[in-house]
Amino acid sequence: MNDLLLRTCRGEATERRPVWIMRQAGRYLPEYRAVRQKVDFLTLCKTPELAAEVTIQPVEILGVDAAILFADILLPLEAMGAELVFAKGDGPTFPHPVRTREDVARLRSPEVEESLGYVFEAMRLVRRELDGKVPVLGFGGTPWTLAAYLVEGGGSKHFEHLLAWSYGDPEGLALLLDRVADTSIGYLRGQVAAGAQALQLFDTWGGLLDLDRWRSLALPPLRKIVAALKGQLKDPTPLIYYINGGSHLLPGLQELEVDVLSVDWRQPLSEVRRAVGSRGLQGNLDPAALLAPIPEIERRAAALVESGRGGGHVVNLGHGILPMTPVDHAKAFVETVKRTPLTVDPFTNRRG
Ligand code: CP3
Repeated sequence: MNDLLLRTCRGEATERRPVWIMRQAGRYLPEYRAVRQKVDFLTLCKTPELAAEVTIQPVEILGVDAAILFADILLPLEAMGAELVFAKGDGPTFPHPVRTREDVARLRSPEVEESLGYVFEAMRLVRRELDGKVPVLGFGGTPWTLAAYLVEGGGSKHFEHLLAWSYGDPEGLALLLDRVADTSIGYLRGQVAAGAQALQLFDTWGGLLDLDRWRSLALPPLRKIVAALKGQLKDPTPLIYYINGGSHLLPGLQELEVDVLSVDWRQPLSEVRRAVGSRGLQGNLDPAALLAPIPEIERRAAALVESGRGGGHVVNLGHGILPMTPVDHAKAFVETVKRTPLTVDPFTNRRG
C-alpha cells in the first residue's frame, strides 16, 4: 500500500512527499460533472455508491496519494435538524438560521448511525474498492466554521450575525459550539469505525477571529474534539487541521495537539516552518497557481517541495481546487511532486 501520507502524519521520513488536492473530487473533473448531471449535490452525498465513485475518480485520474471521502462539512448540521439547501449556483443555505439560545435548544442531538449512516457506508465502499491502493481521509468542519454557516444562514462576506452574537452573548454562542462539537465527535468516530485512516478538520473561517478571541471562542470546542479523538486510544487516527487565513493564529495553533497543520498560501511555507519547527505541515500552493501555464506550475510545485524541508510535509493546495482548473494542470502539479525526490541531509541523515 501507498502509505506515504500516513507515514508523514506519524512523523516518519519518506522517500518523497505525499500529495493530494483539497476538493479533488469536484467540478473541474468532467467525470464528476457527468455524475452530477444525473443527481443533485445532496443526493450525490447520500447515495453511497455514487459518493464512492466520485471519491475514487481523482485517485485514478490524477494519481494522488490519498482519497478524501466525498461528503460535505455541513451534513452533520442537517442531522442536528437544521434544514440544508444547496440551490443551483448559490452554495449552501440554511433557511432557518440558528441565532439565539432558544434556537440552539431546538437542535437535535442525533444518533449518527441513523442520520449520517450513508457517509459511513460510502467510507466502507471506498475502502473496499481501493483495497489499500491509497489511504482514505475522513473529515469534518470545526465547530466555529460550521456555526459560521448555521448562524449566518449560508456563506457570507462579513458573517455579521455570527460576529454580533460572539460579542453580544459569547456564552450563548458557546452553547451552540459545544452542541456542534458533540455531534462532530460521534460523526468523526463513526468515520474512523467505517475505515477512515486519517481525519482532516476544516476551519475555513477561523481566520475571522483575532488570536485572543480565537482562543476563547473557537479553541475550546475544537480542543474537545481533538481530545475525544486522541484521548485514551493507543493508536489514534492521525489528525490534520486546516486553517484558512490564519497566519496570525500560528502561536495558538501551535498548542493544538494535531499531527499536521494545513495552511493557506498567504504565508510562504518556509516561514511557517520556521515558526512551527519540525511539526508536520500541509499545503500550500495558491489554487489560482494551477491556472498558470504548465511549466510555471511545475516550477512552483518543485519550489513548494523544497520549501517544506525540515519536517513532514503533505503537499497540497492552500484551499480547494478552483472549478475552472484544467485537469492536465492538476495532473502536472501531482506528477511534479511525485518525481521530486527529497535530498538527504548529510548531517542528520534525514530526508526533507
Ligand atoms: O475535498 C473533496 O474532494 C471532498 C469533498 C468535500 C466537499 N466539500 C464537496 C463539495 C469537502 C472536503 C468539502 C468541505 C467543505 N464544504 C468546506 C471546507 C473546505 C473549504 O472549501 O473551505 C466548506 C466550507 C464546505 C461547504 C460548502 N460546500 C460550500 C461553501 C459549497 C459551495 C461552494 C462550492 O464550492 O460550490 C459546497 C458545495 C460542494 N462541496 C461542492 C463539492 C464538490 C460543489 C457542489 C457541486 O457539485 O455543485
